Amino acid sequence: MPKKILLVDDDPDIIALLKQVLLKEKYQIMQASNGRMAEEILDSAKVDLLVTDIEMPEIDGIELVHWLREKSKIPIIVMTSYSHIPKVKELYEEGISHFLSKPLRRLEFLDLVDKLIHAKEGEVINTRSLEYVSVPIDNFLKDEVFECPIFVKLSDIKYVKIANNTATLNQDQVAKLKDKNILELYLTSKDYEARINKSLTQAKAISNKKLVTTPGASEHIILNAGKIMAEKIYHESLSRENFEMAKDYVTSSLDIISDNKRAMNLLEELNNLGDHFFSHCMGVSIYNILLAKQLDWTSEETFKLLSLAGVYHDIGFKDIDVSIANKDLSELDDDEFKSLRNHPIHGADIVSDLKYFPIELSQIILQHHENCIGEGYPFNLKKDFIYPPARIVYITDLFCDLVLTREGYDPISPKEALVIMEEDHIKEFDSIFFETFKTLFS
Ligand SMILES: [Fe+2]
Ligand SMILES: [Fe+2]
Repeated sequence: MPKKILLVDDDPDIIALLKQVLLKEKYQIMQASNGRMAEEILDSAKVDLLVTDIEMPEIDGIELVHWLREKSKIPIIVMTSYSHIPKVKELYEEGISHFLSKPLRRLEFLDLVDKLIHAKEGEVINTRSLEYVSVPIDNFLKDEVFECPIFVKLSDIKYVKIANNTATLNQDQVAKLKDKNILELYLTSKDYEARINKSLTQAKAISNKKLVTTPGASEHIILNAGKIMAEKIYHESLSRENFEMAKDYVTSSLDIISDNKRAMNLLEELNNLGDHFFSHCMGVSIYNILLAKQLDWTSEETFKLLSLAGVYHDIGFKDIDVSIANKDLSELDDDEFKSLRNHPIHGADIVSDLKYFPIELSQIILQHHENCIGEGYPFNLKKDFIYPPARIVYITDLFCDLVLTREGYDPISPKEALVIMEEDHIKEFDSIFFETFKTLFS
């Protein structure tokens, strides 16, 4: 059974890179763009290794590590960069994680992942293999040049690389380290002897892409239609207050969408698939938020993500014959059924191109028809292998299919829908998520 790794970083490029490296090694990957999302995933999924960045919105890597250590012994790799060394030093002294400095080296990273994930309980993994020589930090503030990796000492057995050479060292940051009373940096003894003189250049900053939103964006007719449909989804057995809150998230997602031409075109294509299709997606979006809130999830990023996932979860149907999408399952022939089961793959592919949208979106869309007993599609994944937000969509999707109007089908009440879900599908759901979902209705 593949081991599961949770990657936490707010830089989608770093996540994409790590995923690429790890997937080749047959690990299963989950991801989060901040500490709070990571906590929610760790609460609802079994994870074998956490790899986290330090600086992130909402809850940073340091807080996340402290939170996790209160409740679990799973190995943790903290990805550090130069400016975080004083912060990380504290974490290291507490002996609670392993460290790698950015930019990560593929082999070094894979080696540590492999060691940690296969370590027996209580086994000490020592990642140090070289001898080090100290150099006064003032030397790095002068013209002296070292064309070799430079390290900060964390303890007698642990050194963290902060640059591949002096060309990637930033003088201001060196000065800041000195201010924090770090008076020496280190080179390997072999490199120390081989140093030569060159001038310093600026370190390359890692770019920090964020989700771009502009409040009060264009009043496009489709956006209005979406907002009106969102209102129509209300049912009297729901708390009006919770519903309004969920509707606000959907409305702000529509505003995010309106700022992105490609995302807006996709919304139009979704609308072209038919009214009931569009309202189904709005419904899934709203119920995703309602369920996440009911589960006591609190991350704003997760709510945005779940709201967008609701809107776009079935976008893959745009590449499939509309008549198939609208047919009852029992009427489909083998080829049509196969084509229908590909919509999560098409959908994940389509949204992966949306710039500035959360990278987790395509993972949710890819897995929204996977169920906990491994009888879903496209990959027959079992519970532990399904990204928790996708387990939410699995429930809300079926629920909205039952309670919202569609051609040739009479919708039923939430109470009746819950009975059908319980009798015919209970094993397919994440049991905690489904039990919580039921409590939404009075
Ligand atoms: Fe779907
Ligand atoms: Fe759906």
